Amino acid sequence: MSYKKVILTGDRPTGKLHLGHYVGSLAARVKMQETHTQFVIIADMQGLTDHAHEPQKIRENVLEVALDYLAVGIDPKKTTIFVQSLVPALSEMTVYFLNLITWNRLKHNPTIKLEIQQKGYGEEVPAGFMIYPVSQAADITAFKADLVPAGEDQTPIIEQTVELVRKFNRLYRKDVLVEPQIVTSQFARLPGTDGRAKMSKSLGNAIFLSDSPDEVVKKVKGMYTDPGHLRVEDPGKVEGNPVFTYLDAFGSDVGKIEEMKAHYAKGGLGDSVVKRFLLEQLLAFLEPIRKRREELAKDPHQVMQYLHAGTEHANRVASTTLAEMRSAMGIDY
Ligand code: TRP
Repeated sequence: MSYKKVILTGDRPTGKLHLGHYVGSLAARVKMQETHTQFVIIADMQGLTDHAHEPQKIRENVLEVALDYLAVGIDPKKTTIFVQSLVPALSEMTVYFLNLITWNRLKHNPTIKLEIQQKGYGEEVPAGFMIYPVSQAADITAFKADLVPAGEDQTPIIEQTVELVRKFNRLYRKDVLVEPQIVTSQFARLPGTDGRAKMSKSLGNAIFLSDSPDEVVKKVKGMYTDPGHLRVEDPGKVEGNPVFTYLDAFGSDVGKIEEMKAHYAKGGLGDSVVKRFLLEQLLAFLEPIRKRREELAKDPHQVMQYLHAGTEHANRVASTTLAEMRSAMGIDY
């Protein structure tokens, strides 16, 4: 019997997903579900670590994120999609893991340090936020994941997970847990429509998978291009020009894209012409996704059914791992 490697990945349900998510993770998930055993976690508890005051936002976005997943082709028959808070074994594992890591180590996690700064917490860091990397270690190890596809910013969290796995297995003299490996996307980050390095909901420079054609038109028309390309005759910059980056990522007519790049670099091709072409390609890419999403959104109960079925499977796997852990620890009363 051939062993399929296990993937665990997921998102915090804090907003709808956009083209940056598609390029950075969703496209890979659609592919990987054919060759791997894939679990995708909707990490609502992790979302609450910095949104405790707006649980309704988390609740709404569990459904929105699920719709985005299904619309792009993550298939609940091939991928186990589940909700973090509905898998209690993850919380229990977190408590055991917390005894195997020092407070000092948590404080020095570079991702956490950066996020504390960005969120302006000062001395008022929620304790749940401080320990979310440990809860994430539970998410990953409960499913004995071999691979965690994630952004570069998740590297310190996966390193911490590996340390916890080693510590647990060594301390309790049993190879219960599996060391995961991070797989960072081979794609560079997708820039925002404003030309900034990262597309992000909070920066207001995102095109969402659920945007209407009108919204996409507006956003593409307003896109940043090459600020030095003042007149049509001027040579323009292709490198670092988000309009061309998007064409590379979402366009299907490679020949025409290459032709346009050469023409733009030489001069004589106006931004509005390139944008019109990008719109055509982008709308063609988004159209089937938006249609499927609209169709699915008519029956939210069915969507939640998919999540409940996935969660049931996730619970079986996670509670088996938890039982093995308790047995290794000798607390299997
Ligand atoms: N921390 C991830 C993010 O912010 C979300 C997440 C939660 C996750 N649990 C995970 C990612 C486990 C990979 C594996 O996007």
